[in-house]
Amino acid sequence: MLSASNKPSRVVILLGPPGSGKGTQAKVIVERYGIPQISTGDMLREAVKSQTPLGLAAEQIMKSGGLVGDDIVNGLVEERIDRADCEKGFVLDGYPRTIEQAKVLGQILEKQQQPAPVVISLEVFPELVLQRISGRRTCRQCGRIYNVYFSPSRGEGICDACGGELIARADDSEAVVRERLVQYEKQTQPLIDFYQGLGQLRRLDGGAPIETVKEELFSILEGQKERSNHS
Ligand code: AP5
Repeated sequence: MLSASNKPSRVVILLGPPGSGKGTQAKVIVERYGIPQISTGDMLREAVKSQTPLGLAAEQIMKSGGLVGDDIVNGLVEERIDRADCEKGFVLDGYPRTIEQAKVLGQILEKQQQPAPVVISLEVFPELVLQRISGRRTCRQCGRIYNVYFSPSRGEGICDACGGELIARADDSEAVVRERLVQYEKQTQPLIDFYQGLGQLRRLDGGAPIETVKEELFSILEGQKERSNHS
């Protein structure tokens, strides 16, 4: 638990459908502000890869495009936020995804005396999502994200940063992405109203080029900081 004098400076939630750019922009925030990225998708994929009991429970759900149970995911996130590197804040990518998760997150933030989150909704049309996801390639080694249409690596199939192999994700087939979009509409879209009601939501055109989204994101986050410095 953190003391009041050691409050973290920034908690950011990136909301948005599959392929809206949450992972891409989370990495940009990590680089700019030196706070860690907490991606429940990455944590679950790691558990699947290691075939831990949690991974075994999550594997089929993820392959079908469904959501893993709230209790499992809330536990993972609470444990992660409790670590020392989250003292100055963190960026959540892919969490919360249900109203239940959002409520639990609120309790965790309060318990740890952390600030109210800035919630950024990355808004993108479904057709663009399908194109982006079909072109996504991720480095097996360092996790850097590329796109064969929009942001290809210099060498085909090889990561510019570390030389690792670029791979497509197991849940990126068109049928599974369509199911992930259905789940998003049903379970995650209601969070837009939830955070709007708390006055924490900021909307952003996630369909713009990566650099444009990045600049707009910074301007929201810098503006937020200015406001909290003056309050
Ligand atoms: P998760 O890994 O969180 O997947 P997702 O939310 O479906 O999002 P993606 O990772 O597919 O997309 P993204 O928005 O990060 O886009 P990216 O930046 O990669 O979850 C996977 C599964 O895990 C879930 O289905 C569920 O089963 C489970 N899970 C995870 N969290 C859970 C939770 N909280 N509760 C329950 N279950 C959970 O970009 C996509 C592509 O587009 C890339 O190639 C990128 O280069 C490109 N791109 C990005 N931005 C732009 C741009 N502005 N212009 C052009 N190209 C762009």
